[in-house]
Amino acid sequence: MNLKKIFPDEQSIPEKVSISFQRQTGYLVNGEIRHWTGPFEKVLSPVYIQNGKGPEQKVLGEYPKLTGKEAMNALDAAVEAFDNGRGLWPTMSVRQRISHVEEFTARMVEKREEVVKLIMWEIGKSAKDSQKEFDRTVQYIKDTINALKDLDRKSSRFEIEEGVIGQIRRSPLGVVLCMGPFNYPLNETYATLIPALITGNAVIFKPPKLGVLLHSPLLEAFRLSFPAGVVNTVYGDGEEVVQPIMKSGKVNVLAFIGTSHVADIIKKAHPSPHRLRSVLGLEAKNTAIVLSDADLDLAVNEIVTGTLSFNGQRCTALKMLYVHQDILPKFIEQFTAAVDRLKAGMPWDEGVDITPLPEEGKAAYLDSLVRDAVSKGATVLNKRGGKHIESIYFPAIVFPVNSDMQLYHVEQFGPVIPVAAFNDIDEPLRYIMESKYGQQVSIFGTGTDEIARLIDPLVNQVARVNINSQCQRGPDTFPFTGRKDSAEGTLSVSDALRVFTIRSLVAAKENSLNKKIFTEIVRENKSNFLSTDFIF
Ligand code: G3H
Repeated sequence: MNLKKIFPDEQSIPEKVSISFQRQTGYLVNGEIRHWTGPFEKVLSPVYIQNGKGPEQKVLGEYPKLTGKEAMNALDAAVEAFDNGRGLWPTMSVRQRISHVEEFTARMVEKREEVVKLIMWEIGKSAKDSQKEFDRTVQYIKDTINALKDLDRKSSRFEIEEGVIGQIRRSPLGVVLCMGPFNYPLNETYATLIPALITGNAVIFKPPKLGVLLHSPLLEAFRLSFPAGVVNTVYGDGEEVVQPIMKSGKVNVLAFIGTSHVADIIKKAHPSPHRLRSVLGLEAKNTAIVLSDADLDLAVNEIVTGTLSFNGQRCTALKMLYVHQDILPKFIEQFTAAVDRLKAGMPWDEGVDITPLPEEGKAAYLDSLVRDAVSKGATVLNKRGGKHIESIYFPAIVFPVNSDMQLYHVEQFGPVIPVAAFNDIDEPLRYIMESKYGQQVSIFGTGTDEIARLIDPLVNQVARVNINSQCQRGPDTFPFTGRKDSAEGTLSVSDALRVFTIRSLVAAKENSLNKKIFTEIVRENKSNFLSTDFIF
């Protein structure tokens, strides 16, 4: 493939995916979509378009560059909607809150095509993966509703212990700030936003810098589906809009997926850190260990997708490979061939694997990592490895990578694959132990004894050990977390409901007066909390 011709001209873009300039003026605050007249942030697509002079980055649109004032308005609206727990939303019954989220989901589904198209254009994700991201998010919402029903059913009863009657439920925490990452701008924002909302919190959400416009078709759905102030959006520079919100001390939960560096800045801005609960998804450097008896076809297949789906821009991507010396030549032969067969192209191209990278200067950064490794003795093993033009970077397999090279340490978050060989299993184990990160590992092998010996120490180093399988977050009902610098807290459909709530109970000494009061409240449906109502 000639990389020079990889970018299309306007005429060759299929009509189904062609897009006009997207000017977003609206932002959602206190139940209304306000229109911004101040400065705007330009959105550049990672897709370049050929014009007479060569490829030029497509200007996709613009969105409001809000200031601290609008950010504080959003905060005030959320604080008022929660109203110290007295607001309509936090006191509403679980059944009613579920019906609001169901309404939202129905409206969201109507916007599927629009959102999917924007994901493709804004972050360069393939059509197939963009659709998958949307559908997975809708499924996540449905699963969250079912998990909440389940939790509520289990809490719809009284307990009597040591002469005390009690009903224990989970209550919302207050104001939640949700910030998702650019690589899963919809899914990983909604994976915290929806559980935060459905459990009765008021939310402010700030989309990542890359991946803002794709949320705009859903603003109206939020406005129509939830009471005023329950969902609010802010856009713009983090320093300008996030810092004042945090400095107010009025945020109760920070749900953030991104880098630990930014997470630390945001957390530190809170004046009373002990009041702030955080759930964070951060960096990772997941390692694959390929044992000498690995099933090569299976390992190569899993490692190709594990390292390169969405161009390796996943926190769960495999970012370091340790391959046993005995199997190394065969592994390299098959793996380089499989990677060189990948198709680079535009997000809408049929069967495309490698697509444009959205981060500014990313190809140059990846190139610098490869050059650094090569200058210290490594080689790029695959023929097409490292070829790049503008935002397209063809995956480079770099071998042998050692601790003198940047690639050994940094989270490359892109299509460069460092490989090291080992004889002694202690080498990859030491690498994992000494790493700053502790999210997941993949072991490829067929011998039960050796795999079993590795499982026991590794589960104490990382949060998920994958056997003959790539690292991944899903299924979303499984716990997703990490050790060390990789995460704080645990997310899964059911864990997220716990993250955004605290257990509260109503208790009374078991005497005839209290029994009468409890009975009357429950019989006459006087309380949404003290209730034995069963949600079917
Ligand atoms: O970027 C990190 C994502 O949580 C990874 O999710 O394993 O489903 O791609 P995934």
